[in-house]
Amino acid sequence: MSVGIDEISFYTSNYFLDLRTLAEMQQTDPEKYYTGIGQEKMAMAAPDEDIVTMAANAALPIVERIGPDAVTTLLFATETGIDQSKAAGVYVHRLLGLGSRCRVVELKQACYSATAAVQMACALVARKPDSKVLVIASDIARYDLNTPGEATQGCGAVAMLISADPRIVVIDPEVGSYTEDVMDFWRPNYRSNALVDGKYSTKIYLKALKKAWEYFCEESRSSFRDFNYFCYHLPFSRMAQKAHQHLAKLCRCTLDAAEIEQQIADTLHYNQMIGNSYTASMYIGLCSLLDNTKESLSGKRIGFFSYGSGCVAEFFSGTVVDGYQDQLHTAAHASMLSARQEVNYDEYLKLYHYPDPQGGESLVLPHSTTGRFRLAAISHHKREYVPC
Ligand code: CAA
Repeated sequence: MSVGIDEISFYTSNYFLDLRTLAEMQQTDPEKYYTGIGQEKMAMAAPDEDIVTMAANAALPIVERIGPDAVTTLLFATETGIDQSKAAGVYVHRLLGLGSRCRVVELKQACYSATAAVQMACALVARKPDSKVLVIASDIARYDLNTPGEATQGCGAVAMLISADPRIVVIDPEVGSYTEDVMDFWRPNYRSNALVDGKYSTKIYLKALKKAWEYFCEESRSSFRDFNYFCYHLPFSRMAQKAHQHLAKLCRCTLDAAEIEQQIADTLHYNQMIGNSYTASMYIGLCSLLDNTKESLSGKRIGFFSYGSGCVAEFFSGTVVDGYQDQLHTAAHASMLSARQEVNYDEYLKLYHYPDPQGGESLVLPHSTTGRFRLAAISHHKREYVPC
């Protein structure tokens, strides 16, 4: 029996800032962003959007198809937690009308936790093949204004149904995991923005890639030439390009530079338009590859490198299933992205500074999202989510 991704769908906010606008205000050359880090736009969450509403929006098309009672477990991966105790997925469970027998839990390890969720979901399905596990990764990437990280902000959520005999990607059981206690990027409980040692984080990312790849190769006996495509964690698209060149060099790959570039090019399109979405980013990269690659991916082998600062990394692999095209949400993704509204710099600042009550104040939120769910209010320390 094979196990893997049976369906995949993503969601991002209807607002974005063009990085040319940011560059102009910072008196920076826009090419630093467009070419230097490889990013064009960053998605900004609406005031009435958070990880819960984005997650419910991402998962809705899947739940509408299979029915709410079919989901046996919901695993919610995030590093933008809204509560120290209650799992964000429990709100999503109600918004999507999932059955009361469905278990829900939240997972955290920076951008890596979605991969932990996928691996755990595969194990649950292997143990009980009629299980259908909904994995959702949802995050809002925020840095302090006027820091190098600011241009890499973004937001998004991705939902994946993990099942037996999947119709999109079969995931192989072999993995190469790597853990090391480092302080490259973190967010203490008292901060809403991440702290980051930017240059150091890029070095640790590359070190973790090397180690995870070596462990993966020991376990799977695979080599670089066994893969057609690679999906990397995408803090910004240039990071993935550098990582892939690094891996190709380590493996003494004989392909030319253009062929190496081609192995990841289609994974980058959505990220370049959305920005970092932390736990969701590698899987939105997978959506980008599946939706945008002209040649058929049937039977093609994909290498995945998941990286979560702090750090835990994992290399694993999967093979695309025949007929996968019929299961994709390509048209819905395209129309969501083309319907987005550009904001100017003042509107960006207003979205950035939108009040996030830390002291228990009540707040009624204006209806701004075009999504199907919204955060309507916060009162008596409770978040009130409603369908639109
Ligand atoms: N035209 C073209 N390119 C230009 C340019 C111009 N006018 N000006 C600068 N560049 C190039 C630079 O040469 C540089 O390229 P190289 O990396 O190839 O040398 C690139 O643009 C970036 O310029 P800087 O190195 O000067 O950029 P910076 O120091 O201001 O910021 C960063 C870079 C430190 C990565 C910053 O974006 C950051 O802190 N990001 C957040 C942390 C992050 O994303 N880390 C990634 C690994 S950790 C992780 O992956 C987890 C996660 O999700 C956060």
